[in-house]
Amino acid sequence: MGAAERVLHGILEKAKGLVHGITCGAGMPYRLGEIAAKYQVYYYPIVSSVRAFKALWKRTYQRISSYLLGGVVYEDPWLAGGHNGLSNSEDPELPQAPFERVAEIRSFMNEIGLSETPIVMAGGVWHLKDWEHWFDNLQIGPIAFQFGTRPLLTKESPISAEWKKKLLTLEEDDVFLNKFSPTGFYSSAVKNNFIRELQERNSRQIKFSENASEEFSSEFAMGSRGRKIYLTSQDKELANTWTKAGYTEAMKTPDTTVIFVTPGKFAEIRQDQINCMGCLSHCLFSNWKDHGDHSTGRKPDPRSFCIQKTLQNIIHDGDIENELMFSGHNVYKFKQDPFYENGYVPTVKELVERILTGY
Ligand SMILES: Cc1cc2nc3c(=O)[nH]c(=O)nc-3n(C[C@H](O)[C@H](O)[C@H](O)COP(=O)(O)O)c2cc1C
Ligand code: SF4
Repeated sequence: MGAAERVLHGILEKAKGLVHGITCGAGMPYRLGEIAAKYQVYYYPIVSSVRAFKALWKRTYQRISSYLLGGVVYEDPWLAGGHNGLSNSEDPELPQAPFERVAEIRSFMNEIGLSETPIVMAGGVWHLKDWEHWFDNLQIGPIAFQFGTRPLLTKESPISAEWKKKLLTLEEDDVFLNKFSPTGFYSSAVKNNFIRELQERNSRQIKFSENASEEFSSEFAMGSRGRKIYLTSQDKELANTWTKAGYTEAMKTPDTTVIFVTPGKFAEIRQDQINCMGCLSHCLFSNWKDHGDHSTGRKPDPRSFCIQKTLQNIIHDGDIENELMFSGHNVYKFKQDPFYENGYVPTVKELVERILTGY
């Protein structure tokens, strides 16, 4: 989040004594421990591997504020909703079981004297009865559970009635782990028109060169101004096919490729980039950065989108088919769980009871 540190300092300053602890989502929350120490509150970093926790521990936490570490949240990068902390060495197509990964974190925590500090398991938890082998298990140690997807479907949840209804219809492969987010992180969202359009936009993509060469031998005139770029002869044919189909606007990406979109989409992308209000610390879509010269130094990326706009739209009764709909990967269980029969929407209290008993 843009200016996250400033916001956090402001809150902790003005709400002294009211805040028990702070947490921080996807990313590498290096400064969390330092900020917690300044205001003497607990902190709960979210990590998705033992490697990430080790790096945080060695770089800052062990020096500054180990005694304030309230817990470590393990957010499963293949199961949790929203942004996911999948690293470059992990394959989005090859999920790893959470037990082994949490046991690795516990083993490291035991080594550094944190055997009593809880781990919070987040991602893919439906009923606690499914996790009984995690209780009183020395490989796991003290454990708590975090829920993201299930609370969406409660009376108290502020999402729209259509969104709640949609949750009851989703199937197992309706949630898609993708790399479209302007944060640069992987994220998990429902495969609706919004995601399909991004998939299609990304697939109408070819390499280009500013100069003619043996490989990039075919001249191509971009847009109304007819600026010249060079394509391979094979890709020129693709470009012609897309242009004939109405995707007449070619947009350059930071990776020396161009994507093809309709004039309407072209105008929308440009307008969204112009309207940027700097919600992120680094934005791939608009190239905004919240400090220094306020530019990431890269070209704005038309393969991404303005997450601020779409998340605001969907929460304020927006069109759930055409806005970003984050979700965890176990969302398909709503349809299968008899608890939700005939579209029943529980209160949070009822949900908690159900999670505890599993019946
Ligand atoms: C709609 C939605 C939005 C989310 N947004 C964030 C977020 O902004 N930051 C974050 O750290 N986690 C986010 N999460 C992840 C949750 O905090 C939680 O760790 C995870 O979803 C738990 O897994 P579950 O959905 O299987 O219960 C989001 C989850 C959902 C379902
Ligand atoms: S373009 Fe949108 S998502 Fe990116 S920083 Fe600006 S407001 Fe945020």
